[in-house]
Amino acid sequence: EKVILAYSGGLDTTAIIPWLKENYDFDVVCVCIDVGQGNELDGLEERAKLSGATKLYIEDVVDEFCNDYVIPCVQANAIYENKYLLGTSMARPVIAKRLVEIARIEGATAICHGATGKGNDQVRFELGIKALAPDLKIIAPWRCDTWNMSSREDEIEYCKQHGIDLPFSMNNSYSRDRNLWHISHEGLELEDPGEAPDYDHLLVLGVSPENAPDEGEIVTMAFEKGIPVSVNGENLSVSDIIKKLNELGGKHGIGIVDIVENRVVGMKSRGVYETPGGTILMEAHTQLEELILDRSTLTVKKEIGNKFADVVYEGKWFTPLREALQAFIESTQSYVTGEVKFKLYKGNIIKQGTTSPYSLYNESIASFTTGDLYNHHDAEGFINLFGLSLKVRAMKMAEAEKN
Ligand code: ARG
Ligand code: SIN
Repeated sequence: EKVILAYSGGLDTTAIIPWLKENYDFDVVCVCIDVGQGNELDGLEERAKLSGATKLYIEDVVDEFCNDYVIPCVQANAIYENKYLLGTSMARPVIAKRLVEIARIEGATAICHGATGKGNDQVRFELGIKALAPDLKIIAPWRCDTWNMSSREDEIEYCKQHGIDLPFSMNNSYSRDRNLWHISHEGLELEDPGEAPDYDHLLVLGVSPENAPDEGEIVTMAFEKGIPVSVNGENLSVSDIIKKLNELGGKHGIGIVDIVENRVVGMKSRGVYETPGGTILMEAHTQLEELILDRSTLTVKKEIGNKFADVVYEGKWFTPLREALQAFIESTQSYVTGEVKFKLYKGNIIKQGTTSPYSLYNESIASFTTGDLYNHHDAEGFINLFGLSLKVRAMKMAEAEKN
């Protein structure tokens, strides 16, 4: 029998290989899914084989991730608990999907992942797998009684006992998760919300605002139907746009978030996220929508966007609810076409002008000085009716006070 192992090449998932063989007698097929985490993939096959795997797949899903998972979240302006741009959450379903696809190719009967029993990721991987392949067994070693390793030292020792002698570093670092959209940091001093993050050691994708250049930088972007199509006049794919914005945002200290968030499993956890390009992309998209969406559509879109964020956070990607919410969001994007200009400066994104052929902004109506479409006198009747109910109530209260 075969098991598909979601493999990163790190110590945790490497130790799982001998553990699977020992406890289940499975043939282990490792699958490393490239969502833009930028780690060295050279030598990974050798490492997997040395550790006892029968095969290693390296799957590049970066474009699928950007086009089918990131973009819907950008269009929805999906932000969890007002801060978290969902970088880890949105990558899990595309990983689950590819794991299932490879399980089918290999005729495997189980999928194994290295997420702990305390977190959100186990939920996301497993809801994804259940939705796409309800017949597959799921193995989560960290939740198994036979998994007796609780530190890096334990894992290194276990690997050695099983003839795997690889150069893993002993020292504990942050628990990190990286893809093209973001990197997350948890653990170490962050576990105490009373402590300040040690940014000098922590930041990977950029610098803190105080270390950013004193000179701001102007950037232009164009969107078509809610999809980014160019940066500074250069037409690029979505993934290349995110790469470009990551460089720019990282340089200027954009998109660093420090949050205590509510995990699905009930606990609060403290994390720092770097989402330099993503923060710019979302802000630019919102800047454009301001000109284009009417007030009542925007009101509902905000609610649907928040709901979308919760659904993504909870790992319910492959559900009819997510599809329906996404369909609503998509239909609001038909006219989100135009150009956005802003300045990046020490952690800030400062508007420098927005234009769209579909802008609903009408200068002759809005202007303080001109205009004949808008008649000031109309406002009086409008306010009388708009305020009627509160006026009636105030009169009633005054009357009741007298008695
Ligand atoms: N707390 C974030 C989330 O739930 C980040 C999780 C990071 N995952 C990790 N394996 N380090 O989406
Ligand atoms: C983990 O526990 O595996 C990482 C954190 C999380 O999933 O929330």
